[in-house]
Amino acid sequence: MISQKSIQEVLETAKVEEVVEDFVRLKRRGVNMIGLCPFHNEKTPSFTVSPSKNIFKCFGCGQGGGPTQFLMEHENLSFPEAIRYLAKKYGIELEETVASPEFLAEQQKLDSYYIINKFAAEFFEQQLFETDRGKHIALPYFKERGFREDTIKKFSLGYAPNEWKGLLEEASRQNYNAEFLKDLGLVSDKGFDFFRDRVMFPIFNLSGKVVGFGGRILENKAKAPKYINSPETEIYNKSKILYGAFQAKNSIRQLDECILVEGYTDVISLHQAGIENVVSSSGTSLTKGQVQMIKRFTPNIKILYDGDAAGIKAALRGLDLVLEEDMNVKVVLLPEGEDPDSHVKKVGTADFKKYLEEKSQDFILFKASILMEEGMNDPVKKVALIRSVVDSIARIPDPIKRSLYIRECAKLVEVDEPLLISETNKAVGQRFKKQKKEKEQKQLPESNEQPDPFTVEKHSSLSQPAVETTDSKAAGHEFQERDIIRILIHFGGQVFDDKEETSVAAFLLGNIEDVIEDFDHELYQIIAKEALDRLSKGLAIELSYFTQHNNKEIQSLSIDLISSPYEYSENWEKKWDIYLNTQKMPDDNFIKDSQNALKRFRLKKIIRKCAENQEKIKNLGKEGDVENMMLHMRLQQKLIEIRNELANELGTVVL
Ligand code: GTP
Ligand code: MN
Repeated sequence: MISQKSIQEVLETAKVEEVVEDFVRLKRRGVNMIGLCPFHNEKTPSFTVSPSKNIFKCFGCGQGGGPTQFLMEHENLSFPEAIRYLAKKYGIELEETVASPEFLAEQQKLDSYYIINKFAAEFFEQQLFETDRGKHIALPYFKERGFREDTIKKFSLGYAPNEWKGLLEEASRQNYNAEFLKDLGLVSDKGFDFFRDRVMFPIFNLSGKVVGFGGRILENKAKAPKYINSPETEIYNKSKILYGAFQAKNSIRQLDECILVEGYTDVISLHQAGIENVVSSSGTSLTKGQVQMIKRFTPNIKILYDGDAAGIKAALRGLDLVLEEDMNVKVVLLPEGEDPDSHVKKVGTADFKKYLEEKSQDFILFKASILMEEGMNDPVKKVALIRSVVDSIARIPDPIKRSLYIRECAKLVEVDEPLLISETNKAVGQRFKKQKKEKEQKQLPESNEQPDPFTVEKHSSLSQPAVETTDSKAAGHEFQERDIIRILIHFGGQVFDDKEETSVAAFLLGNIEDVIEDFDHELYQIIAKEALDRLSKGLAIELSYFTQHNNKEIQSLSIDLISSPYEYSENWEKKWDIYLNTQKMPDDNFIKDSQNALKRFRLKKIIRKCAENQEKIKNLGKEGDVENMMLHMRLQQKLIEIRNELANELGTVVL
């Protein structure tokens, strides 16, 4: 293992422009450098390298990071591999710490698994192209299905021979450990090849390593299953892998959309037709882990279904999971009896794309309209329908989105909006209670599913009309929180006050420490807490710490927050003399910037505290607890004072 000290040294030495220039031609453009993005096809350069921030960012496809991330993405290296590459490039001698024997053994085993899977994939390919049955039976099968040779090679398709020990014997010849082949499911417990006389689809993880296989029977026999798949193993976590993701990821990022289909062949056919942002969950229903993987690349997902009754039912089920992840879900029903593979072959790429455009429907509205057809004239069914639609809407974490859906659906299913709002609030409250209970039972430290606390609050207070939830106030404080975190990451290390020798980070964190538990956005809170922890330990809070963070989410958020496609003119402030809330600030205005952001942030929190306290007063009044009520009323006065003061100060700066 590489020591932490060495890793640090490499990270401090590596210059992004020097690393990128080994692969991409860059031209100077002001303080930055630009070039053609290596992660997506483009004719005009939108790939920007900032030597001063030590990051790259493509404004076309969204890819961004520091020197190590560039190598990891571009060269498909793991983090340690990227560190070793950089150490070599910069002549840094790496200090290796001695890992425990158990760790080494485990590491070696995992490495071997990947090596053996790679060997197996190559063996199957060679069987396809170089043996008699491969050339005369399996290859023609693929060709009859319309797969071109370059497509077959791109997906490393292969053929498992019609032998009991074909793979096993070749593995022994090459001295691979037979136990490992069993672990991987390539060989059965009894010692026979698991895949026999099947065409083979290797399954890759995101960095392009083979983690498992799907094997399809050559002709449809009544008894044998059409597809068999590798079992779940230490390197193949089925709930986190999507077929085709490795080949699709750049296109998904570039088009900002992921198309989800059912089968291996659907992925391959669409890919061959030039529609490359396609993945498949291989016939099983979508898992949370898979959705989260897609979310790393895009929030937009389009699901293609066979247009029969079963397809429609499937569309209605399972998708609530995607809503919970705050993804935008569209569905497309294909004509009856067609799957994406057959349909794209029939109509061609252009018409297929047109079909997707024209026939795609928003999932919730789709669900509402389908159910509407069924339940139109049946009051009992209609109640169930409303419940079901409400249940879907309640899963959407973003309250603004939720209220938009409520409005649309109220129209669609012909019910009053306030009724739908109050039903949704009930469902949100119930979900929250259920989650809380589950969390307590499992005693999990953290859940990813953070219900919107505002809605829950409102819901639990009987005196408040539910309608308020759709007010834009309910949108949470994420804008303000984001602003604080942006300044913290971007300018945290800079000097805020020469005389007192405080850093921007110290100033910001000192002012939000008391409300750090009140963040709405989980990731922003994690970042704030981590920064506070570093500050208390006397560690630096620097831009590069976040842009090279080992938590991928923090890392890419930092890149997004500090990259701006706009150039600022020096006169920007003079010319306009105002700050717009939504406008990004010029880089050197961070002091004024952070003061104002902080005020906006605190104002939001104080307003919420006022509302909470008001509620408390009301309840105490009902309970007849006069003493405590007085206490809270004094607190309320104080809060309102602070609120007015902040609003006042901001009023002079913000228009
Ligand atoms: P083709 O018939 O080759 O076009 O495959 P397809 O991908 O269109 O298959 P289908 O629509 O029947 O099934 C969709 C997906 O479900 C497949 O890609 C497989 O991942 C999975 N699947 C289908 N049949 C089986 C089976 O018998 N066993 C298992 N484990 N999975 C299957
Ligand atoms: Mn098919």
